[in-house]
Amino acid sequence: MLELKSADVFYGKAQALHGVSMGCAPNEVLALVGRNGAGKSTALRALMGQIPLRQGKRQLEGTDITGLSLSDSSRRGIALVPDSRDIVSGLSAEENLLLATLSHPPGHWTIERVYELFPRLRERRQAQGTSLSGGEQQMLAIGRALLTNPRYLLLDEPTEGLAPVIIEQIVAAIEFVSRAGVSVLLVEQNFRVPKRVAQRFCLLDSGRVVWSGDREEIDDRLEMMLSGLQEGAQV
Ligand SMILES: Nc1ncnc2c1ncn2[C@@H]1O[C@H](COP(=O)(O)OP(=O)(O)OP(=O)(O)O)[C@@H](O)[C@H]1O
Ligand SMILES: [Mg+2]
Repeated sequence: MLELKSADVFYGKAQALHGVSMGCAPNEVLALVGRNGAGKSTALRALMGQIPLRQGKRQLEGTDITGLSLSDSSRRGIALVPDSRDIVSGLSAEENLLLATLSHPPGHWTIERVYELFPRLRERRQAQGTSLSGGEQQMLAIGRALLTNPRYLLLDEPTEGLAPVIIEQIVAAIEFVSRAGVSVLLVEQNFRVPKRVAQRFCLLDSGRVVWSGDREEIDDRLEMMLSGLQEGAQV
């Protein structure tokens, strides 16, 4: 399990997370949902070790990893795909993937397996980062994260701004990766994609966990509220 326990996170004087306790269990897809500015990306950064906790703890399989560096967190099996995707624009798609293999020992995920997951990337392997479409960049960002052979894959709004046909490919990839034994923490502002792939849900609002539970616990009222998130509905 990868988890935050009573985590407080600040940007300067502004508090972004207030006593957040949440965690992703082995072999599950957990959706972290909430409207704009709720603290979803901050929670992912905190789980990755990209941003320090002012209070509280970060734990991996019950071990305290609060102070573990970003690179050590990555070596311990945590990978984050940021919403910015961060493709190296001067390198080809394949060079971007090669870069990820350099810093990690070989494991289950190889460039070939990434191409099997996203055949479009094989076709575009020689294309420069700058010429890739949004969907191709997202596939590349996920592929690059998989090459670190994570046990926990943290995805920040992977379907944002993508065409429905590409969203289907990303959803299929999340399902495949999950079946391959990787735990996925999926951040989305809307509820449409998480509703299809997640077994458990955690709703953040104003930096606080306001609801968490299993798919079966989502009643009609909550479903309406979650479905309204992308329209900026109040929680
Ligand atoms: N780098 C930063 N510096 C200062 N404040 C920040 C920074 N990043 C986020 N914040 C603030 O922290 C709070 C939580 O932001 P965060 O980006 O985690 O929300 P989010 O749920 O991911 O929102 P979105 O749906 O827009 O991606 C917001 O009030 C935001 O303005
Ligand atoms: Mg965000």
